Amino acid sequence: MPQTVFITGTSTGIGAATVRLFARHGWQVAATMRNPADAKFGDLPNVRVYALDVTDAAAAPRAIAQAHADFGGLDVLINNAGYGLVGPFEAATDEQIQQQFATNVFGVFAVTRAALPLLRAQQSGVIVNITSVGGRTAFPMNSLYHATKFGLDGFSESLWYELAPFGIRVKVVAPGGVATDFGTRSLQMTIDPADDQAPYVGQVRNVLKAFGERRGAASTAEQIADVIYAAATDGTAQLRYIAGADAQGLLSTKAQMPEGDFMAMIQKSFSGE
Ligand SMILES: NC(=O)c1ccc[n+]([C@@H]2O[C@H](COP(=O)([O-])OP(=O)(O)OC[C@H]3O[C@@H](n4cnc5c(N)ncnc54)[C@H](OP(=O)(O)O)[C@@H]3O)[C@@H](O)[C@H]2O)c1
Repeated sequence: MPQTVFITGTSTGIGAATVRLFARHGWQVAATMRNPADAKFGDLPNVRVYALDVTDAAAAPRAIAQAHADFGGLDVLINNAGYGLVGPFEAATDEQIQQQFATNVFGVFAVTRAALPLLRAQQSGVIVNITSVGGRTAFPMNSLYHATKFGLDGFSESLWYELAPFGIRVKVVAPGGVATDFGTRSLQMTIDPADDQAPYVGQVRNVLKAFGERRGAASTAEQIADVIYAAATDGTAQLRYIAGADAQGLLSTKAQMPEGDFMAMIQKSFSGE
């Protein structure tokens, strides 16, 4: 009997690449997305597409139950849906803050809670949470995104202990920069960087410029999917997988430097100099 994986946010990017990789390895794939019309998996017979907006808490149990009934099992859950919110914290609206946490944090809680009774009953399963290098270190002008990904990182570490007695493994995959829609279509801003009068606009422009300069070092979505597949299938208890040479380099530098020196280096690299 083939194994089944349930993945959120699979219309583009890392989610879509992960669907394709698991399908190629013979898995049954429940590919979920806000708009199933966006799905491009018609060539993959072992993929079924389900509508799931992770901010709709009532929809998560329905999608999990439907996929479980259709495929006859659930072995791996991949919480991938998420997006970035850039700009000064002070300028963020209540709605922007709520939407960022509803998607990146509460969405993960809802889908995970829907899956846990099934995984606990069968005493096995793997939950892979897609965080970010930005769940282990922070950049300027991304405070709310970091709050979600640092939160998810701590949540996952604690859950690792809680679920281990039931044979359920928790994994964190933390990518660095990845060439997807993350920095374009999906990105939300708390100010308009073209507005010369907007507060903090100089800092925002410097940060966007620095991210633009780092684009050449970005991984592909397929490279991150490889790490996700390894995390889901390697049979180990390893919690964190840092994905991408840029993320690995940055976090090893952070581990080796005094905090003040590291932060001064980050500040300078985003200063527009
Ligand atoms: N790209 C990077 O540099 C990078 C780095 C570190 C971590 N990550 C993380 O990787 C994950 C995937 O991002 P990506 O790079 O693949 O970007 P992407 O191409 O923009 O994909 C994001 C996916 O999340 C979905 N999504 C957004 N809000 C949703 C909601 N409420 N319910 C369900 N799905 C929702 C999007 O669906 P729609 O098509 O409906 O918008 C899309 O399928 C995110 O968690 C992101 O934080 C990305």
